[in-house]
Amino acid sequence: MTILDGKKTADDIKNEITAQVTIMKSNGEKVPHLAAIIVGNDGASLTYVGSKVKACERVGFESTMVKLPSTTSETELLNKIKELNQNDDIDGFIIQLPLPIQIDTQKVLMAVDPTKDVDGFHPENFGKMALDMTTFIPATPFGILELLERYNVETQGKHTVVIGRSHIVGRPMSILMGRKGFPGNSTVTLTHSYTKNIAQITTQADIIITALGVPNYLKAEMVKDGAVVIDVGITRVADDSTEKGYRITGDVDFEFVSKKASFITPVPGGVGPMTIAMLLKNTLLAREQRKARN
Ligand code: GUN
Repeated sequence: MTILDGKKTADDIKNEITAQVTIMKSNGEKVPHLAAIIVGNDGASLTYVGSKVKACERVGFESTMVKLPSTTSETELLNKIKELNQNDDIDGFIIQLPLPIQIDTQKVLMAVDPTKDVDGFHPENFGKMALDMTTFIPATPFGILELLERYNVETQGKHTVVIGRSHIVGRPMSILMGRKGFPGNSTVTLTHSYTKNIAQITTQADIIITALGVPNYLKAEMVKDGAVVIDVGITRVADDSTEKGYRITGDVDFEFVSKKASFITPVPGGVGPMTIAMLLKNTLLAREQRKARN
């Protein structure tokens, strides 16, 4: 069994990006600038955005965090997005999800300039992704592809089962694994809350990608020997023995599933760090594309 080490791989990617930023600086070029909007005070979201800003500093990017109160109206948020769209210094920006209930998420995501949409959530970019065109691939699926590629995990002709059809992970992942090329060329089953007898499907999977947010959901008896298991779950579970009072738990019952898997991602230290590294990669791409256009 091989651990797909997302922490190490993300560090490698960040070092590669740092090297490119160093060249940009020595050429007197503008460095990439990422902005992140966060609405409200959700603890997990604040942690994620904080990590994204910290990652920017590490690789030499500029970053801007826009913190808005939980009472922000849709119009106010749309105005802020307009501002970032028009700000020539910003190469890319993200709106951390989920948003408060008074805001229509889809409407907000559609307001983002697709050339600055480094999360790849705008329908134009999502459509391009589905059509094999060059675009911003959503950071978490992009990170999973990168892990599979760097560890040379065979995907061609394999049966990939994706659990969860979220717009951020499951849906794009199901499209990407079926695309032509590597990683891809997989036969994909996308399962969700209405799927019947899910264990019957997962036990036939060569590759399982679970993005459900239910701690320890995937048990050893749901996995065949030698399967590749990718765990996208990051749920905070109360734990008084830790300093923070919680621990991060994945969707996979790691202790037992890891005994059957050929490759597996740990939580934490698997997909999570990759998401941030790929957001940086998309921001670098956004900068390069802006430079080529101007
Ligand atoms: N919330 C959970 N994952 C993500 C992500 O990848 N991007 C954004 N913007 N919000 C998220």
